[in-house]
Amino acid sequence: MRIISTERSQVLATRISVKLAVPLAETKFTRFPDGEMYLRCEGLDDKTLIVSSIVDSDMLVQTLLAIDAADRSRNTLVIPYLGYARQDKRFASGEPISARAVARALSCGIERAFVVDIHDPGALDYFSVPAKNVTIAPAIGRYVGDLNLKNPLILAPDEGAIEFAADVAAVGGWDCDFLQKTRISGEEVQIAPKTVDAAGREVVIVDDIISTGGTLATAARMLREQGAVSIHAACVHGVLVNGAYTRLRAAGISSIASSDTYENASSFISAANAIAAAITEDVHY
Ligand code: R5P
Repeated sequence: MRIISTERSQVLATRISVKLAVPLAETKFTRFPDGEMYLRCEGLDDKTLIVSSIVDSDMLVQTLLAIDAADRSRNTLVIPYLGYARQDKRFASGEPISARAVARALSCGIERAFVVDIHDPGALDYFSVPAKNVTIAPAIGRYVGDLNLKNPLILAPDEGAIEFAADVAAVGGWDCDFLQKTRISGEEVQIAPKTVDAAGREVVIVDDIISTGGTLATAARMLREQGAVSIHAACVHGVLVNGAYTRLRAAGISSIASSDTYENASSFISAANAIAAAITEDVHY
């Protein structure tokens, strides 16, 4: 078996390679003069694990090329971050269901797929091969434990994310709640934990994705007003577009951490253990 990594998943792929004791296939990435992508993988074997986060359209193409390069082997695709997954419904006529389009394209040439904390697990049905979701909530919980906060309160940004937050909180037996939006007037909205008082608490807001940081920045400002002592943020996929990191710091968030599913300078948490365990537990390994 060999592991192929596309260009934006090299650190995580290397960590998975160490955990599974499976070598990485050396891969050369270049472009043709017209900008089209090219890759060449050395020393492929009869089984290939392709590790590729779809962080942008280039990485989607690179993943398709990697799958095709390994067409003579049995392929497993690990998609730590599945871009396009948030458009998982048709909201207006004439729109694509982007999650479905991407899942269908990626299913071709692979035997099975693994994704990490996909926005809506229902989107896994769009793959035409067996596809599993791997959660790194326990790894985020261990990260929170390492922050050495006093009696932290774990908050989900909305009710839909409470299960993930509860899995994080379970690591330390911490309190857990979700943030509820209440409209005070036409212009004024209040965001506060549904049941637990944030006053005097060290708060950690956990989410699957931080993109623009807008959701968390608004919540952080209001939690401060409610008397939270400190506010931290931890997410799986740190997309962090348009100055999100600085926006969050400016909103009073003391620490921001994400995982290596979307490699960047705040990727302090690794998904490698959880992915390696899911692969080895799978009957086809
Ligand atoms: C939404 O349902 C997701 O779970 C995240 O809360 C959302 O994608 C975060 O987006 P942003 O950082 O742009 O507020």
